[in-house]
Amino acid sequence: MKSVAVLGGTGFVGQQVCRLLVAHGWTVTVPTRQRSLVSPIGGVALREVDVHDGGALCQLVAGLDAVINLVAILHGDSALFESVHVTLPQSLVMACVQQRVTRVVHVSALGVDDVQPQSGPSEYLRSKGRGEAVLLHSPQAAGLDVTVLRPSVIFGAGDKFLNMFAKLQAAFPVMPLAGAQAKFQPVWVDDVALAVVRSLERAPGAAARAALPRVIEACGPTVYTLADLVRLSARLSGVRGGAGRPVIALPQWMARVQASLMELAPGEPLMSRDNLDSMKVDNVASGTVPGLEALGIAPAQLEPIAAQYLSKR
Ligand SMILES: NC(=O)c1ccc[n+]([C@@H]2O[C@H](COP(=O)([O-])OP(=O)(O)OC[C@H]3O[C@@H](n4cnc5c(N)ncnc54)[C@H](OP(=O)(O)O)[C@@H]3O)[C@@H](O)[C@H]2O)c1
Repeated sequence: MKSVAVLGGTGFVGQQVCRLLVAHGWTVTVPTRQRSLVSPIGGVALREVDVHDGGALCQLVAGLDAVINLVAILHGDSALFESVHVTLPQSLVMACVQQRVTRVVHVSALGVDDVQPQSGPSEYLRSKGRGEAVLLHSPQAAGLDVTVLRPSVIFGAGDKFLNMFAKLQAAFPVMPLAGAQAKFQPVWVDDVALAVVRSLERAPGAAARAALPRVIEACGPTVYTLADLVRLSARLSGVRGGAGRPVIALPQWMARVQASLMELAPGEPLMSRDNLDSMKVDNVASGTVPGLEALGIAPAQLEPIAAQYLSKR
């Protein structure tokens, strides 16, 4: 039986990846920062491990066939982005080389540039780009077999995207919206999980490595503006009989004020100035990198799937 560690396996995408891996017969280990906060995932060994500790990471991957990295953050200062998106991939490369684990699948994000990471509009995208560069181009990683997946925004039961817009519209009379015209190409969480598992399961070796692209964009079949998605979340969840709330597109200066205030609120902000910066570039397939079809996946339409979980809210 093949064995894999899934870093970030407790998250929204990670849980779906783990379920699929178990169904495909993999032995799955998931490190987590705080075991007591995590619900069990069927068939998965959860271990409390600090993945930022190089020694602990080496122990975690020892004897495994592969590693998947889904650890990421959306909010934080530069030092935190650097630690999670760049230093962790560096430590992962070191651990894999030391323990002779050659197969690595890394989940990144659409809009990331591994060749010119600093061209990204936000610290999120720039740090993700530097992390990709470590995995794809550093001399230390030269012996590894790495696949990078770059998803657009991901939807599915339990997402923090359509569910959040539905919840906000259920609670407030209007929707003041930053980045209303920013474009997205949402992809279903099950399609992303399948892409991860198919990347992992392709035949090993040089021929397969040459046949499959190292970077794959994971996008759905349809492009939406953020305002479209907000309205759609209201329609599918039945806010005001499906009519939703008036969407007020905020000018950039007002969006920055809104994001600054949200950053001051306790807990995870709904929106940060860095998130706004990410939306300066449309989050749609570049056309320069293969898509899910390279893995034999025809991505699902959003509406029938989102209708199922949003209608139960
Ligand atoms: N969701 C989307 O719409 C979307 C869109 C594009 C790309 N992606 C990418 O897809 C991947 C998975 O995203 P997701 O939505 O599943 O994320 P998520 O739900 O936030 O899960 C991320 C996981 O990473 C771990 N983690 C978070 N911060 C950490 C830290 N500072 N140190 C160590 N571990 C940490 C957490 O595990 P513990 O709390 O158990 O330690 C958490 O379960 C990420 O690479 C993300 O950038 C997601």
